Amino acid sequence: MYRSHSCGELTASDINKEVTLSGWVQKTRDKGFMIWVDLRDRYGMTQLIFDEQRTPKAVVEKAKTLGREFVIQVIGTVIERESKNPNMPTGDIEVLVSELKILNEALVPPFTIEDETDGGEDIRMKYRYLDIRRNPVKNSLIFRHEVTMKVRNYLSGEGFIEVETPYLIKSTPEGARDFVVPSRMNEGQFYALPQSPQTFKQLLMVGGMDKYFQIVKCFRDEDLRADRQPEFTQIDCEMAFVEQEDILNIFEGLTRHLIKNIKGQDIQNFPRMTYDDAMRTYGNDKPDIRFGMKFGELNQVSQHKEFKVFNDAELVVGIAVPGGASYTRKEIDKLIDWVKRPQVGALGMVYVKCNEDGSFKSSVDKFYDQEDLSKWAETTGAKAGDLICVLSGSANKTRGQLSALRMELAERLGLRNPEEFAPLWVVDFPLLEWDEDTERYHAMHHPFTSPKPEDIPLLDSKPGEVRANAYDLVLNGNEIGGGSIRIHDKETQSLMFHHLGFTPEEARAQFGFLLDAFQYGAPPHGGIAFGLDRLVAILGGQETIRDFIAFPKNNSGRDVMIDAPASIDTEQLKELSLKLDL
Ligand code: AMO
Repeated sequence: MYRSHSCGELTASDINKEVTLSGWVQKTRDKGFMIWVDLRDRYGMTQLIFDEQRTPKAVVEKAKTLGREFVIQVIGTVIERESKNPNMPTGDIEVLVSELKILNEALVPPFTIEDETDGGEDIRMKYRYLDIRRNPVKNSLIFRHEVTMKVRNYLSGEGFIEVETPYLIKSTPEGARDFVVPSRMNEGQFYALPQSPQTFKQLLMVGGMDKYFQIVKCFRDEDLRADRQPEFTQIDCEMAFVEQEDILNIFEGLTRHLIKNIKGQDIQNFPRMTYDDAMRTYGNDKPDIRFGMKFGELNQVSQHKEFKVFNDAELVVGIAVPGGASYTRKEIDKLIDWVKRPQVGALGMVYVKCNEDGSFKSSVDKFYDQEDLSKWAETTGAKAGDLICVLSGSANKTRGQLSALRMELAERLGLRNPEEFAPLWVVDFPLLEWDEDTERYHAMHHPFTSPKPEDIPLLDSKPGEVRANAYDLVLNGNEIGGGSIRIHDKETQSLMFHHLGFTPEEARAQFGFLLDAFQYGAPPHGGIAFGLDRLVAILGGQETIRDFIAFPKNNSGRDVMIDAPASIDTEQLKELSLKLDL
């Protein structure tokens, strides 16, 4: 028996018990006649004591050889600690060791395995198994497990069946690039790893499964960010005989349940906003609504004077920064530099200080009088003491820039409280999106999303204005889920492929299986997928998903621990009928 107890459970009520413990040496303190060792496992830490008076001499000698991260087993007696530590559950006791067995020695770890480590990101990723021994990482993984279990139990309780779908498939066009896998048995042909199980879950609806879910890995070859990994996990769901309203209600239920059971908070408001409103009011299709700073469009009240920059702009738009009137000239200049950074891309920023005495001082006083500026304050909701920041230019770009500024200022002002949860449904997304590079319309969500029936007549004349039965779930400014009501008849699906630029032959070659299935009694259906990594990170009060993934990839998509991706040998290439021209 390796252990009778874990390192996290012994208390004063165990005093005088003989126990066996196993774990890792966190730290040793050798006072010559007395050695203390902190022994750690997943459950906690227990202090061991080796005492020349009471511990056999050979055992004390062995204890002197222990180094950090040695794996040991001890037998000893639980005794009361002389100097108690009220900060740890086992702080009232220590274990007086009588037997010590070294189960495995350890090299000196490349960084300290403590909550505050001296190891940088790269070294911790290379030795991720050591990083996982640290509480912050270990606790994030345990937290992920808890969220996942709650999701599984909830959905199962609602009658959803978990079904696995294949990983070796043909590519589904979901917007990103596919990871492909060459097939040895089918020379020159490739599988693709799924970007999501989208078509399979629809086929499960045709198969009559009615309510499906799967906690499933998805693979997308796209540029990485803090909230994106090339392989990530979805809580993928689909339901038959449902309308948008049914889906929103069920998954609002799941979200409320998680926030209640994990964070102990009752969500009072679960607002909905159209995509158009979200873009107009927050410049963003995933607005963080924990704070205000709503956009005020100023075209009407700013294009009547001689200020050419505004007069030439498609959109003039501002936000009121609470308390910003006290910013110094230097601070405002820094803010202007911030919006001019290439990542944001604004050409400049006009500002108005709303003084406490009700007067205004702006960077464009040459063009606008106090009455003009008071209208700007009214439109942006600015109060005495606020600073109005105004950007102008083409509508889409300017909205994006002001949205970036809004988020940055909220961060600086501490308005993004990670312990406050504000979910939001964004609905009525456009069906199609114009792509500048390919000069074609693309499905904004995916090609299986149903247009709003009343908008179908616009498909030919104004494709950009057709709205979809598509929705995103936003939590604290992050898109944590997205889904739609699907097309379930062959005609509409063929029409959609046509508008996406597929010839009937191309559509058949790529999606014949789906078009065929739709001819054998496909029920109306719809669904959603949550990004599990994002959901867990946000519930855990963070926005970087990497910390909640046991073995994540770095920003270049590499696993630096196993050193992947890597080249393969010529034999393997040959077997796969692949040639590399290097
Ligand atoms: P979508 O592409 O919106 O929808 O993806 C659903 C959710 O998955 C998460 N997500 C990611 N998380 C981490 N890293 C990534 N690279 C990444 N990409 C997406 C997001 C997103 O909201 N098949 C459809 C769903 C449906 O229509 O039912 C789909 O995959 O949180």
